[in-house]
Order: sequence, then structure tokens, then C-alpha cells
Amino acid sequence: MAKKEINVGIIGFGTVGSGTARILLENSAELKKRTGLDIRLRRIADLDISRDRGISLPSGILTTDSNSVLNDPEIDIVVELMGGIYPAKDFILQAIKNGKHIVSANKALLATEGSDIFGAAADKGVEVGFEASVAGGIPIIKVIREGLVGNNIRTIFGIINGTSNYILTKMTDEKVEFGDALKEAQRLGYAEADPTFDIEGIDTAHKMTILSSLAYGIPLSFDQVYKEGITRITAKDIDFATELGYRIKLLAIAKAVDGEVEMRVHPTMVPNEYLISKIEGVYNAIYVDGDAAGSSLYYGRGAGDMPTGSAVVSDIVDIGRNIMAGGSARLSGILTDGTKSVKKVRRMEDIESMYYFRFAALDQPGVLSKISGILGNNNISIASVIQKGRSEVASVPLVVLTHMAKERDVLKAVAEIDNLNVVSEKTLFIRVEGKQ
Ligand code: NDP
Ligand code: HSE
Repeated sequence: MAKKEINVGIIGFGTVGSGTARILLENSAELKKRTGLDIRLRRIADLDISRDRGISLPSGILTTDSNSVLNDPEIDIVVELMGGIYPAKDFILQAIKNGKHIVSANKALLATEGSDIFGAAADKGVEVGFEASVAGGIPIIKVIREGLVGNNIRTIFGIINGTSNYILTKMTDEKVEFGDALKEAQRLGYAEADPTFDIEGIDTAHKMTILSSLAYGIPLSFDQVYKEGITRITAKDIDFATELGYRIKLLAIAKAVDGEVEMRVHPTMVPNEYLISKIEGVYNAIYVDGDAAGSSLYYGRGAGDMPTGSAVVSDIVDIGRNIMAGGSARLSGILTDGTKSVKKVRRMEDIESMYYFRFAALDQPGVLSKISGILGNNNISIASVIQKGRSEVASVPLVVLTHMAKERDVLKAVAEIDNLNVVSEKTLFIRVEGKQ
């Protein structure tokens, strides 16, 4: 008998789970009109089913028993929205074993354990949808996998963590303290269960891992992404960046260079003229440069219940359509294809960039020449210098912007400068994008 409806079970009824349920229930008639699919939300499992999530659900849908989702023969698609690595991974593998398609927003799980999950799904002939795992409501997975499939991707620059962008925006525009901005992002449901993932660049690196795997055909390689978060950035650096005509953003950068791929996440000074410097608050943006399409930019809400729910629903619809069409696995493939190009990930010390340095230097004659001498000896050429304030005894910030330099040389120069007795704190440096 021909299949008439697509039955969905959700595990995890938190921020994203409730956004997803709301869209499936409240937009059900519209979804049916647009897609021809009769999508039924059959069950939602969560540890706590007494808390009011602000959604009225059909009776009997909520359960504390995840097995009643994973093992229900009527359920076609299991939507994992509980987060974390275990038991989420075991649940997904169990669902795949039971022949269920998967939708997940769990970038931490996919970036670190995705090979097992995509491998098991390919063996079983089921699909794994993960649009919600990167950039919330922006359909960037679809863009790279489908819209730009004919391109060799040269570069991706992304602001793909809403929480850190929210914090940096609040610190820059409203002079809010780091801790207060983080608390607000947590209250708004943007932050991860462990917010160090957001502020230390780990969440951005999870998403970067997924994007680079899609764009460059490399196996999921989270461990090889260079990660640096925003916790070292001070109000002082934000003020200097503003004075120099830049905004500080936590960027994910993937670049094809000489047969290798750079994969790095770090605070970056972006010139005010660049569109990506204007992305504020929880918004995300991804700039993609492909050899055929050229440059394109994607912008939208990167976190929150409804934007992320929107991405989850788009995967449910894609998989539902495939089920109705006879199960062709249009979505799978790329992430398991480690043989496609197997580009090497470039070592961080081999990258080249411009740099901002903030030295804590004593304001004495000859200090600038000592520092600039070390920079020069390490092939680092200075573009501009700012020194503010005067003190005979305490250090004052000395800010230097450089031309293009090698990371290897920068690390060596900073180690030498930090050893000088006229430098009182570890030097802070930020990589700078833009024209020379
Ligand atoms: P929440 O913490 O709001 O929701 C997770 C829910 O899952 C909670 O209700 C939790 O219950 C429940 N849960 C935890 N363990 C189990 C279990 N063993 N069985 C059943 N339910 C369980 O997280 P989010 O909705 O924010 O995030 C969910 C996933 O989506 C994560 O992977 C996250 O990284 C990802 N994501 C989140 C975005 C966002 O904007 N929030 C955006 C994009 C992706 P309890 O609270 O009682 O522990
Ligand atoms: N914590 C994540 C963020 C959620 O702030 O971007 C969206 O993936």
C-alpha cells in the first residue's frame, strides 16, 4: 500500500525541539499545501515532560521513554535535539539500525563522531539531515551541497556562532561587560549547554568542520581545526580596532591554498568596509567564494528556537520527499567521501596574515626600537603604530599593525619580545583581514 504520511519523533524538547514542534504543528496545513506531505508529529521524548514549553500538544504525544521513539515501527524520521555526545550518538545509531532516517542539529556530535553516524546511515540506506547544525536559520548546507555544487570553493569566511557575535557586538556598541553579555545570550537561548563551547571557538570549529567537509570533500577533521576564542579580547582591543577602522569578529576561515586547506577559528579584525564586519548580535553570515559563482554572502539568524526549527523542518521535508519518491538518498554521500580530494589540512604555523599586536611596554627611550628590531629580524614589516598615555614606571599599550607575515615568524617574534624586561605582560595579537 502506498505510504500516506511521514511520521516524525523528536528526542529533546528544549529550545530547538520546541521551535521545531511549533512549526510542525502550527504550519502543518501550509506545509502540506507546499510540499504535498502529510507530516505527523507522532511523539516527543524528553527527560522532563512536566515543564510548560508554551505549546499546546495533542494529548499522549509526550513521553520520557526515548525507546518509544527509537523503536516505534511507525516513525520514519527520528529528530535528535537533545545535544551532547552520549547518549545522543547511541540513540542515533539505534534509530539507524531500526531503519529510521535522522535529522540532527547536534554539530558537536557530527563534527566529532559524524564518520560513524554517516557510515552507519550509508550502510543502512537511510539519510542524515543536518541543516540545523550550522548557522541556524540560514540554509548554508543546502547552498554548499546543492546550490554551489558545480564550484571549487576557494574561501569560506563565516560568523557562525551567534553567542560570541552577540557578546562582541554588545561589548563594542554598548560597552557591556563580557560576563553580562554572555548571561544575556544564555537567557535568550543562544548559548550551548556548556557556554565555553561558544566563547572558546569550539562551537564555531564544530560548524567549520562540517562546512569544510562539505566544501572540500575532506573527512570530518575537528581535531585539525585551529581554535581560539574571544575570552582574551579586552575593551581596550575593541577600542583600538575601532580607532583603526576595524571590527573584531570571531571568524571561521576555510581556504584552499596550494592544494592544502586552512581551517581556523579565531578573533579577526575585519575592515569596516567589509559587509561581514556589519553582522551584529546573534546574526550569522557566511561569505563563500567559488570558482564559477564568484562571491556570495548568506545572512540570517544563527541561533534560537524558531530559526533553528526552520532548518530542522526543511530537512524533514527533504527526507519526506525522498521517502515518498521511493527512498532515493539525495542528501547523503558527501561527508562519507574521504576519497574525493583528500587535501591536507595546512599547519597553522604555515599560514600568512596581517597582525595586530598590543604590547604592554614601559614608556622608556629605545623600547620601540627594541620591539621593531625583533619584528624586523623575524621578517615582520610594520604598517602603523599607536602609543597612548605616558608612564615612567607602569607599562602602556603599544599597538602595532603589520603587513603580511608568516604565523611561524610571528610566534617566534612574540616569544622574543615577551622575554624583554621592558615588556610587562604577554603580548596579545589578533589576525587582521583586508587589503595590505
Ligand atoms: P536544550 O538544552 O534547550 O534542549 C535539550 C533538551 O533535551 C532538554 O529539554 C533536555 O532535557 C533534553 N534531553 C537531554 N538529555 C535527554 C535524554 N537523554 N533523553 C531525552 N531528552 C533529553 O538544547 P537546545 O535545544 O538549545 O539544543 C539542542 C541541540 O541543538 C544541541 O545539539 C545544540 O547544539 C543544537 N543547536 C542549538 C541551537 C540553539 O540556538 N539553541 C542552534 C543550533 C543547534 P533537560 O533540560 O531536562 O536536561
Ligand atoms: N550556541 C550556538 C550559537 C547555537 O550561539 O551560535 C547555534 O548553533
